[in-house]
Amino acid sequence: MPADRFYITTAIDYPNSVPHMGHAYEKVVADFYARAARLRGIETHFLIGLDEHGQKIQEAADKAGHPPQEFVDEKAEVFRRLYGQLNISFDDFIRTSEPRHHEFARELYERVSKRGDIYKDHYEGDYCISCEKFLTATELVDGKCPIHERPTTVVKEESYFFRLSKYRDQVRAHIESHPEFIYPEERRREILSRLNDDVRDLSISRSTFDWGIPLPDDPEHVLYVWFDALANYYSALVRPKDITSRFWPADCHVIGKDILWFHTMIWPAMLLSAGYELPRQVMVHGFILDKDGRKMAKHVGNVVDPVEVMDEYTVDVLRYYFIRSFSSGKDGKFSVSDLEERYNSELGNDLGNLILRVAKLVQTKLGGRVRIGGEQREFSERLNPEAMIEAYWKAVDAREHNRALEELWEYVRATNAYLNDRAPWRIKDEGELAEVLGAGVAALRIVAHLLSPVMPTVAAEIAASLGVPLESVETMSVEMECEVSASKPLFPRREDEKRVSAGKGKAKQPQADVDPFSKLEIKVGKIEAVENHPDADQLFVLKVDLGEEESRTICAGLRAHLQPADLVDRKVIVLANLKPAVLRGVPSAGMVLASDRNDGAVVPADPGDAPIGETITVEGIESNPKKKLSKSNFEKAPLSMKGGVVVYRDKPLRTSAGEIRCDANDGASVR
Ligand code: MSP
Repeated sequence: MPADRFYITTAIDYPNSVPHMGHAYEKVVADFYARAARLRGIETHFLIGLDEHGQKIQEAADKAGHPPQEFVDEKAEVFRRLYGQLNISFDDFIRTSEPRHHEFARELYERVSKRGDIYKDHYEGDYCISCEKFLTATELVDGKCPIHERPTTVVKEESYFFRLSKYRDQVRAHIESHPEFIYPEERRREILSRLNDDVRDLSISRSTFDWGIPLPDDPEHVLYVWFDALANYYSALVRPKDITSRFWPADCHVIGKDILWFHTMIWPAMLLSAGYELPRQVMVHGFILDKDGRKMAKHVGNVVDPVEVMDEYTVDVLRYYFIRSFSSGKDGKFSVSDLEERYNSELGNDLGNLILRVAKLVQTKLGGRVRIGGEQREFSERLNPEAMIEAYWKAVDAREHNRALEELWEYVRATNAYLNDRAPWRIKDEGELAEVLGAGVAALRIVAHLLSPVMPTVAAEIAASLGVPLESVETMSVEMECEVSASKPLFPRREDEKRVSAGKGKAKQPQADVDPFSKLEIKVGKIEAVENHPDADQLFVLKVDLGEEESRTICAGLRAHLQPADLVDRKVIVLANLKPAVLRGVPSAGMVLASDRNDGAVVPADPGDAPIGETITVEGIESNPKKKLSKSNFEKAPLSMKGGVVVYRDKPLRTSAGEIRCDANDGASVR
């Protein structure tokens, strides 16, 4: 069970350059846990900030021709702006150049010194300025830092040392007896294995530059940037107001795997020496990689700008992609086409259409009002969320946020399946209709609630349009009347296939010769026979004549909406080059294109009098169909409804007989 308070932090970023996707990812992950804790009523303190001292920053400031303080002040604004845009709900933003931090870092140094854990010696070693650390001979690859791929500098100077070696056994014992201390297990094992080797004392001062915190007992030296930076997690609780007794020890330090050693050996040793409690957990995330599997980093030149992605898809969509798509603790490739696919299928189709369907039906059939809570038989029997809610929180407690979202999505899909099954657009009895749509609204209330740590703005929009409270589900059983207001599509089909490209920093416009529509082969067909699928209650098995030698077998999800008699002998349009698939044992070669009507029904598009087998065209786009089109390639050419006509990028789909029409809603997708 979670405690009544939660203190969560992220790594503090080096502001030597602009923030990128990796920085954004870490902050969103931590923000998810902070918001999730608040949602449960747990008093939460969430800290982020900047690591502003050290040689790396000094060099960047020199290069920019600014004094270091001015340089970091300027950069701090850029980082703060990004974290504002990402909707990071931090309670405090610490900068290590602030006087409050200097004061505490000096106090910490003095405590450690009083313990007898600091001594002066000479040091000689290979230093990587980008990592801000000494590398051992075994860590070097061809004489270079393996992470930054740049030569190290030989540093030989007098320095103060921290007796890190003294704490090795104590830290190892702590990690062994607290399995939850390092997440994931893979990282825990990595550290335990490293702790079998000798641990060398740590040089914690530098005297060849002065951008840092001067040592209280020898101001010729500044504190080593990592000793200084790690102190931030505690110093932010000491000043401006001492809230240490409420929030220390920290519950969760969220960091990337490259700084594991600092957080799981050096920081615990510093705390043990100073006599402070150890944090409860270090949660280690993987790296955001580019499409070739390289860590996204400024020095590699492969960074995708999070602001561009947010501009294109909204902040909530980027947050969703981070939390859903990257397995907790693992590396993952950032791919705009993967994001686009999730946008269309999980957000647009699964969630967006569900909300729109329910809202429209409540409006058209029940005058915009529906009761939830109290006695909701169908809801508690068929959409009971208890097990899902439990599984969601269990995944959160296990730091497996992507799994929490998977649980939630299964429930979204179950709600869709329930509505397809109950087909409220066919129900005439008002009581029964209220029961079914009430179940839909009650389910979506839970969905919005659990979605709010990931997509706070979208969740609030769902709650507002369904007239349900977002915050507490404890009151789930309390009966209330919801006023459902007009709902606009939350995830509109993206007409234009703009692309955000790695490294280039510019959105790439699709070229005319590779227009995604050109890859589609859409043909006029006539349905010859209709049967129920033997093993899937949503599907019909159709025989469709496309003017080819043999008729095709095509499975179509129209069973909840139409009777076989509505379909036999009807002309339809078929995506003919869709890769064949086997759907629950029945092969299917193509897809009948249909769209959503205002009342929730799904209706096939209508080619009028066009001859069977004719290929559908769009003016100005030459047809160059792929042999076997994937679903995701189809989704790259989104078709939608405009004024009763099926359009692609506002241009009508047509045959020799005229435009393709459909009795569906304006703006609805055709799929
Ligand atoms: N300043 C130190 C941290 C001090 S914490 C007391 C630092 N800064 S950093 O700017 O280089 O990185 C900040 C965080 O971003 C780290 O946790 C790091 O792992 C993370 N990321 C930087 N690039 C990343 C990716 N490409 N992918 C995911 N996160 C990575 O280290």
